[in-house]
Amino acid sequence: MATQDPALLIERAGAVALLTLNRPDSLNAINNEIRRALPEALASFEHDPAIRAVVLRGAGPRGFCAGADIKEFRADETVTQARHRMAHGAYVESLERFSKPVIAAIHGICFGGGLEIALACDLRFASADAKLALPEVNLGLIPGAGGTQRLPRLVGLGQALDMMLTGERIDAAEAHRIGLVSRVFPDADTLFAEAMRIAEVIASKPPVAASYVKEAARSGASMSLGAALQHERDLFALLLSTEDRVEAAKAFKEKRAPNFTGR
Ligand code: COA
Repeated sequence: MATQDPALLIERAGAVALLTLNRPDSLNAINNEIRRALPEALASFEHDPAIRAVVLRGAGPRGFCAGADIKEFRADETVTQARHRMAHGAYVESLERFSKPVIAAIHGICFGGGLEIALACDLRFASADAKLALPEVNLGLIPGAGGTQRLPRLVGLGQALDMMLTGERIDAAEAHRIGLVSRVFPDADTLFAEAMRIAEVIASKPPVAASYVKEAARSGASMSLGAALQHERDLFALLLSTEDRVEAAKAFKEKRAPNFTGR
């Protein structure tokens, strides 16, 4: 009996983990296997000091992800069953809870739940052929995995409502203009290579400092400015006690490359 390919491929290249949504025949549409496998993979990296950054991409030439698997929608599901299942939409939150930086490398189609996954990543890079949309309104729905909240926080209410009320797709240049992606590359191969290269750059930083950058910026977004600034100072003070902070200053003085250990 043929074994089925896993819906999420997990590879390692040095200190970077590469996760690939791997259902190219369905444009990498999100099924229950992906909802389960993504948080599991992140949980395993959380306790693995050898992994310091993650890149997430889609398999095949067509794109990153066309959203929730529409063919999997259950007609006979009750509202309470759906509510219970939607709690699994929280799988997207595992990307934010994960302490290490995650880059979404977006080529081609990035719609619906696919864009919601990308929105929960820390960095979003695109290739020039990328098309991004939250088209749920066309299906009589709204984005249900954080899109209505994360998109306005990232690009502002006006741009976000424009995308969510029209359901229209935007291209990579527009996504870059409104701040939805931070870098655009000419094609998918360059995108994947550069995403891995930049992930390696991030992985070369003192890992506790990298994870505190993420924590300070992310948790501060839901605090008052005063509380967030205090939180920033607390994290800064904690970093003063790390060996890597001492090593960075020492290496600078000795004009050599630092050797960071994560302690
Ligand atoms: N769920 C399940 N399967 C999907 C899918 C999804 N969200 N999106 C695409 N697919 C499948 C198609 O059914 C097709 O499979 P088939 O060859 O077995 O028929 C395959 O992926 C390729 O898609 P296709 O529609 O033939 O490609 P296209 O280039 O003509 O169109 C899209 C691409 C993305 C515009 C179109 O597939 C689409 O609108 N998908 C739904 C997007 C959506 O509404 N997502 C939000 C869900 S909340």
